[in-house]
Amino acid sequence: MGKIYIRGGNALKGTVKIDGAKNAALPVLAASLLATGPSSFEEVPPLDDVVTICNLLEDLGADISWQGDGQLQIDASDLRTSETPYELVRKMRASILVMGPLLARLGRARVSLPGGCNIGSRPIDLHLKGFMALGAEVIMGHGYIEAVAPKLTGGRIYLDFPSVGATENIMMAATLATGTTIIENAAAEPEIVDLANYLNAAGAQVRGAGTSLIRITGVPELRGTVHTVIPDRIEAGTFIAATAITGGQVLLKNVLVDHLKPVIAKFEEVGVRILERDDGLLVVANNRLSATDIKTLPYPGFPTDMQAQVTSVLTVARGTSVVTETIFENRFMHVDELKRMNANIKIKGRSAIIEGVPEITGAPVNASDLRAGASLVVAGLAASGVTELGNIHHIDRGYHDLVAKLKKIGADIWRE
Ligand code: EPZ
Repeated sequence: MGKIYIRGGNALKGTVKIDGAKNAALPVLAASLLATGPSSFEEVPPLDDVVTICNLLEDLGADISWQGDGQLQIDASDLRTSETPYELVRKMRASILVMGPLLARLGRARVSLPGGCNIGSRPIDLHLKGFMALGAEVIMGHGYIEAVAPKLTGGRIYLDFPSVGATENIMMAATLATGTTIIENAAAEPEIVDLANYLNAAGAQVRGAGTSLIRITGVPELRGTVHTVIPDRIEAGTFIAATAITGGQVLLKNVLVDHLKPVIAKFEEVGVRILERDDGLLVVANNRLSATDIKTLPYPGFPTDMQAQVTSVLTVARGTSVVTETIFENRFMHVDELKRMNANIKIKGRSAIIEGVPEITGAPVNASDLRAGASLVVAGLAASGVTELGNIHHIDRGYHDLVAKLKKIGADIWRE
């Protein structure tokens, strides 16, 4: 599987083009199961997770063809089955997102229970609560979940937590239900809006995406359409973190600033200058970073997917920072690895108390999940000496060519 090596100390300088968002592409590609006729997608990031969901869609009977350079065509006119194999779902929790479309399109979906992953148990009770509110019968057994409904009928669902995946799954299922569906306390992430835009372009009637109340009026069928995936706000945030910790100056292209407001606000508090220009977002850092407090919250709060990366930056900021993780119950695995690099962090309940240190040092460390891996790359960029990062398959799931992109802007980084 190889390792990533980083010799820290270089200030990053140059321009980076941000890819399409992984967490927008996955639900949108799953949604293509709802449509008859081909859908063409642009700016699809060539990530391992995208390959996994494409394999899953092909297994269900969809025709998939990559046209190169982020262009992908999917035609789900003739689906072969409503079951997904454990092998594919095990690899990626987001596979659960095919359940809503299969249930709506075929009246049945049988998906193996998604594994948890390192950041928490990741239940799907809210997804199932939504399907049952639309009239589906849900049966669990033998490691599989089955939902059956000859015809879904619109219903009203209150989400106990504004779950991104549950909002997406229920929204997709409701597009072909008879009648109107209301989702209350819905997630409002930009990726939800991107999904609604694809669905409406395919003929659905989704209103209110991006707010906590979403109304879907069912239609008889959806037709394939074209869609460009929004830029990845978390990849952009990761490069802001890398620029901040190295005292660099980097221009990010293909960024929607509105999606980054909470991230920009926090990095400006830390002392980074972030300037919106018509050719992109210019990030200017110096070596005087200040401590700040951060609490992860559902959008438009500070994103949990940026928590590990900003924690790395705060390890060398002057003063004491408190980072509180409210979304997942176990998303501090990167902390033990950062402490091996001389960071001074204590975990108290759901918070990490970070005492800034003058220097962190390179060490052999391991990625436990996608964003923890990214945070260790960020730390390695500023650490004195060489950092050797293992379990880098986690990184390939969510970052395309991260090493090449960082090398291009001056990082002393390589992969063996
Ligand atoms: C999406 O995961 C993202 N993944 C995650 O990004 C992201 O961290 C998360 O949203 C929160 O923003 C994709 O979009 C593919 P949730 P999802 O349902 O949908 C609890 C990354 O690094 N919950 O909003 O699984 C759950 O346990 C990944 O790119 C229930 O209790 O997140 C968690 O504590 C990591 N019951 C919280 O809600 C449910 O039925 C947030 O989960 C569903 C969720």
